[in-house]
Amino acid sequence: MAETSIDSLKGTLAQKRASAEAQGQAVRALKASGASPSEVESAVNSLKALKVEVEALSKELNSRVSENGGGNRDDFRQGVVNALERRLFYIPSFKIYRGVAGLYDYGPPGCAVKSNVLAFWREHFVLEENMLEVDCPCVTPEVVLKASGHVDKFTDLMVKDEKTGTCYRADHLLKDFCKDKLEKDLTLPEEKAMEYKRVMATLDDLSGKELGSKLKEYGIVAPDTKNPLSDPYPFNLMFATSIGPSGLSPGYMRPETAQGIFVNFKDLYYYNGNKLPFAAAQIGQAFRNEISPRQGLLRVREFTLAEIEHFVDPDDKSHPKFKDVSNLEFFMYPRDEQKEAKPFKKLQLGDAVKKGNINNETLGYFIGRTYLFLTSLGIDKERLRFRQHMANEMAHYAADCWDAEIESSYGWIECVGIADRSAYDLRAHTEKSGVQLVAQEKFAEPREVEKLVITPSKKEVGLVFKGNQKKVIEALEAMKEAKAMEVRANLEAKGEVEFFVCTLGQSVTLTKNMVSISKEKKKEHQKVFIPSVIEPSFGIGRIIYCLFEHSFYTRPSKAGDEQCNVFRFPPLVAPIKCTVFPLIQKSEYEEVAKLISKALTRARISHKIDITGTSIGKRYARTDELGVPFAITVDSSNSVTVRERDSKDQVRVSVDEVASVVKDVTDGDSTWTDILSRYPLHSSYSSDEGVLIGDIHSKS
Ligand code: ATP
Ligand code: GLY
Repeated sequence: MAETSIDSLKGTLAQKRASAEAQGQAVRALKASGASPSEVESAVNSLKALKVEVEALSKELNSRVSENGGGNRDDFRQGVVNALERRLFYIPSFKIYRGVAGLYDYGPPGCAVKSNVLAFWREHFVLEENMLEVDCPCVTPEVVLKASGHVDKFTDLMVKDEKTGTCYRADHLLKDFCKDKLEKDLTLPEEKAMEYKRVMATLDDLSGKELGSKLKEYGIVAPDTKNPLSDPYPFNLMFATSIGPSGLSPGYMRPETAQGIFVNFKDLYYYNGNKLPFAAAQIGQAFRNEISPRQGLLRVREFTLAEIEHFVDPDDKSHPKFKDVSNLEFFMYPRDEQKEAKPFKKLQLGDAVKKGNINNETLGYFIGRTYLFLTSLGIDKERLRFRQHMANEMAHYAADCWDAEIESSYGWIECVGIADRSAYDLRAHTEKSGVQLVAQEKFAEPREVEKLVITPSKKEVGLVFKGNQKKVIEALEAMKEAKAMEVRANLEAKGEVEFFVCTLGQSVTLTKNMVSISKEKKKEHQKVFIPSVIEPSFGIGRIIYCLFEHSFYTRPSKAGDEQCNVFRFPPLVAPIKCTVFPLIQKSEYEEVAKLISKALTRARISHKIDITGTSIGKRYARTDELGVPFAITVDSSNSVTVRERDSKDQVRVSVDEVASVVKDVTDGDSTWTDILSRYPLHSSYSSDEGVLIGDIHSKS
């Protein structure tokens, strides 16, 4: 398949580059050692031959990428974007006022595609798993986002063009620089290539200072003006607002929908009969004041998220339906493979969980379901991969995280993040709100457990540590078992121990009278715990844009004088399922068209009648560009033709039957191949589609 051969081509190219680099060193060594001219010449000739091979491979790779919708990626993208804008799939918002970067409207067909994608999302996830759907406000009080860490940490590092003040995301500039070097500099020494790859893999780890010094080291300047850049500094991406007229109650437009679910955990758990696991879901707008939105619909400032929070017992992350997806095989990119810069490959989901590549079954289950969701929408499975986050990329609390990345003309784009966020969010809101966001499991039989009991003496700690009393006590109470046992052993042996208090940033000396540590046997009737949460988070706009690219192709008109655009949307997502055309402007045909339209409405098939006198070929081309899968043409009073968009095949069907035929094939109850075998074929009237030879008999 194209993707694997591109990968093996990339591998061969990397090897040839390494050989050319080694040969270059050999030539230099020969020259330095004063070898004979003939020896040097033969080594130089080998080097030249290798360079020719590198160049040829690199050209081939470029053209292959181009076949895959890349190559001349910019031209391809321009073609898609032109079609999308012309047909009002989307419109830059506030266009008559010159628009605002990062804000877009969906026009009629875009809206229809979006609502189809969301309807399918609800069916595929909410309905399938009996999820509890909620709908929370976008305006969120500060306290919620303070607890979740967004107020302090939801920042990107920004640099400014020192002359014009234009802002850029610092890590993006560094990433673009490295990517450009790796892709375009054919003579890049292996060592440098490794360095750039390392920088790209550790971007998320770099502090502002480190990022700044890398930008300086590589001489990176403002891309538009080539002016020098400021040092990087953090910029919070949330849009701030205030709630109510006093201006005293700060709030933010939510940057994700998840927090609305977490703060409702207690009620949702009760609603679910106090049982785990369960999942809650929410579809809604999210807002991020992106520093420099580019890449069109991919990085915007307001977008639709569809998020699931699946709550589980942290000691049991198995999933009863995992077996339904465990046989799926698709591209996965575990972190170890990324570390060694190996190409990604197809793995079986069951194996990936068994081998521990994927942390647990529930995470694996959602990865599998996400694969099925995206491919059912029409995302090309050869341009879809699941990439595991590197340890440095993950939030510190996350147990594991995988992104569904889709390859587009902009490269691999994260469209869905699937993370095991452990108990982080519920714990944070429990601490801040004082409301216990916990679950209980009642045991059938009481269980005898050994419990660690830590009892600090407030009085003794207070006498010695005064104002730091509270912090020392909290640190003592938070000790894990191993640490507590170590402290106890030391206190018993030596009477005192050095104890590090992280909230003080220093060690204190504890004495025996300050704390008692013991293990006691207790009978427990239930366990109370903070659930872990597994969160699949879908960026609907990104998925839709990638779907546009994966669905788009051009084909020459019959006359060969122009290229026609087509979106090969599956009926599930197509903005309109069917068009109805009277072949010519004739009242008798128009009446039949209206009858068919009524029947289609009854069958809930979205459709459009086009009674303009435009040639039938032009009308087909217009609807192909909207991605309409079927067209009904009325050319008699009792039978009509049905045309399928991609094959352009047509069959003849009676007027009475046509709505149900179209319904069957759009609902997936029949395939187009079934229809072809059931009804007589018809050859097009349109010179753009074929020669008129009248009805011919069905293939069966
Ligand atoms: P990025 O690194 O690309 O900024 P992120 O890691 O911050 O994205 P998440 O916080 O994981 O993204 O958000 C979940 C999903 O939301 C992403 O997978 C993506 O599909 C979508 N998303 C995030 N930011 C944007 C944006 N600015 N425009 C459109 N979609 C977005
Ligand atoms: N069914 C009308 C056409 O083929 O052009």
